[in-house]
Amino acid sequence: MTSFNIGMYGGGTVGGGVYELIMKNSPSNNMKITKICVRDLNKPRDFQVDGSITSWTADPDSILEDDSINCIVEVMGGTGLAKRIIETALKKGKAVVTANKALLAEHWNELQKVLKANPKARLAWEAAVCGGIPIIQILQTAYQGDEISSVTGICNGTTNFMLTQMFQHGAAYDQVLKEAQGLGYAEVDPTADVEGHDVRAKIVLLSQLAYGGSIVGGVEQIPCKGISKITEDDFAYARLLKATIKLVGTARRMEGGKVSVYVTPAIVEERHALASIDGAGNAVVVESKNLGACAYTGPGAGRYPTANSVVADLYRLSASTTAAAASDDALTLDPNYAGSFYIRFPVAKKHAGIVGKIGVCAEQHGVGIRSVLKNTDKDFCVITEDCQLSQVEGLCADLAKQDFAGNDEALFMPILSG
Ligand code: NAP
Ligand code: HSE
Repeated sequence: MTSFNIGMYGGGTVGGGVYELIMKNSPSNNMKITKICVRDLNKPRDFQVDGSITSWTADPDSILEDDSINCIVEVMGGTGLAKRIIETALKKGKAVVTANKALLAEHWNELQKVLKANPKARLAWEAAVCGGIPIIQILQTAYQGDEISSVTGICNGTTNFMLTQMFQHGAAYDQVLKEAQGLGYAEVDPTADVEGHDVRAKIVLLSQLAYGGSIVGGVEQIPCKGISKITEDDFAYARLLKATIKLVGTARRMEGGKVSVYVTPAIVEERHALASIDGAGNAVVVESKNLGACAYTGPGAGRYPTANSVVADLYRLSASTTAAAASDDALTLDPNYAGSFYIRFPVAKKHAGIVGKIGVCAEQHGVGIRSVLKNTDKDFCVITEDCQLSQVEGLCADLAKQDFAGNDEALFMPILSG
C-alpha cells in the first residue's frame, strides 16, 4: 500500500464528500488530504476540515509544487486549468484521480500520450461516469474475454431526475432544474446536462472502454440531443404508448466494425430495463456475446455516491503500481443510427387528408409506418418501423414543407422496446 498525501482541487459537492470519507478513516487508510484548492477562500463550506492536517489554498501551483503531496484529486471541473493540473501532476509522478468526464472525453488522446510517456503515471476516473456505479471498473475487468455489442445507458442524474418529476408529477422544467441544482446533481453550467453534452462525454468514455480504441476528431461529431425540447405532448404520447421518456447514451458495434455512438431522448417502453430507473438513478445495460444483457444500476450523481467512487479509486491506486494507458487504435464511427422512431410534428389546424399525405412522404423516404396517433389538435405522432436516422431526418424535413405543417420543428426520438 502506498501512503497518500493528497492535494485536492475543489471543495464543493464532490470535494466535501471525498474529504469526509477519506478523513474519517485516516490514518488507518494511509491517506490524508493535506491541501484543498478552491477559487474563493472566503466561501462558507458545508463540511468540517481538520486544520491541524489540512490547509486551504487558492493557488493551484502550490499543490503541484509541493513534493510532500504524491496524489491529486481533481474534483473542480472545467477543461482548461484542470487539464494543466492533471498533466503536470502525471508528469511529476503524482497519482491522479478525477471525476471530470468533460475533460477526459475532450482530451482523452492527449492524456493517453502523457500516460504512455510516463510509465509510472497513474490516472483513475471511476467517478466520471454514472456517479456511484462502478461501471469503469466493470468495463475494464469483467469483459476481457468477451465481446461487447452495445452499451446503452441513462448516464445523467440531473435529467433523469427532471424527466421523472415532469413525467410522474407534472413538474415544470425550470422548477425541477433548480431542484436538481440544489441537490448537487447538476453541472456548474446545467446546459451540459439538459442538452446531452454530459451524457455525450460519458458515452464516449464508455465506448472507448467497451471497444478498446479511441474516438479521434472530437466529441462534437457524436449526434447529441438533450431534453429541452420535450413537451407535455410528448409525455402524453409516451403514456399512450405505455412508455416513458429517458435521455439515453448508446454505443453500438455495427456490422463491419464501425461503432454508432449517439445521445438522444428515447421513448422507453415500460418493460425495458431502463424504464424503471427514476430520480437521479443511472443504469447501463451492456450486451455481450457471453453474458447477454447485464444491467448495472445505482445512484448517478450527488455528494456521497460520487465521492465513494473517488475514494474507491484512491484505494485501488494505493494498492497498485500499474500504469493506466489505454489503447489508442481509432474507432470508426457511424453516426447514422437505426431503430424504430417516434416522430411528433406540429400541424396547422383544419387540414384534411393529413394521414394520407404523411404516408406518401414516408414512402418517398423509404420509411415504414407502424402507427399514427393524434392526441391534440396541434400535432401528430408517427411511429415508424425500423429505419435509419438519415431517413427520419429526411422525412421530418419533408413534412415541414407540407401545407399542413405547423411552425415548430418536428421532434423525433428512437423507441427502446421492452
Ligand atoms: P462544485 O460543487 O461546483 O465544486 C467545484 C469546486 O471546485 C468548488 O469548490 C470551486 O471552488 C472549485 N473550483 C472551481 N474552479 C476553480 C478554479 N479555477 N480554481 C480553484 N478551484 C476551483 O462541483 P461538483 O459538483 O463538486 O463537481 C466537481 C467535478 O465532479 C466536476 O468535474 C463534475 O463534472 C464532476 N462530477 C460531479 C458529480 C456530482 O454529482 N456533483 C458527479 C460526478 C462527477 P469554490 O467553492 O471556491 O467556488
Ligand atoms: N451532472 C452530472 C449528472 C453529475 O447529473 O449526472 C454526475 O456526473
